[in-house]
Amino acid sequence: MKIRNINLSLNAAIGMLCLGVTSLTPVLARADATYYNEFGGRAGIHAVVTDMLTNVLADDRIKSYFTNANIPVLNASLTNQVCMLEGGPCKFDENMKKIHESLGITQAAFNALAEDLQKSMNQHNIPLAAQNDLLSKLAPMEPAIVTK
Ligand code: HEM
Repeated sequence: MKIRNINLSLNAAIGMLCLGVTSLTPVLARADATYYNEFGGRAGIHAVVTDMLTNVLADDRIKSYFTNANIPVLNASLTNQVCMLEGGPCKFDENMKKIHESLGITQAAFNALAEDLQKSMNQHNIPLAAQNDLLSKLAPMEPAIVTK
């Protein structure tokens, strides 16, 4: 399954423009901080990432990719990355291409991981708009991650 509903947040952004919002930057900043709060802040994001990784490690489609991965390090990095993407006070600056290029990740594997993330977000009752916002920020990373 492809990442779904990405267009929703794009449409929302376009909708804001059409409604005559004059200064887009503060609006987007406020929206991101709102989503960060809807995730339950850093602790909520950490819980979502932890259960996403639990789902991934139990997922026969992709668990073999993670045989040699350092899961606590991966958890901490992903938590910081999502926290930053959703407007939280976290720093993350790693090169997605460099990290993943030797792993031979397929489109199907990327989609499976996105499903495992969605499953975790649903498990944690994250509001749909916040879910879509995160998916819309992860989707553009796909070309850097999928190499096979
Ligand atoms: C948008 C989607 C993805 C994001 C945001 C993401 C993010 C990350 C980050 C931040 C790290 C670095 C962890 C560290 O600091 O060491 C990482 C490592 C890793 N990722 Fe991804 N990733 C994504 C998709 C995938 C997919 C689809 C797979 C495989 C199915 C995958 C497999 C791995 C593995 C195995 C590592 C660990 C590498 C190692 O420990 O040496 N990732 N990922």
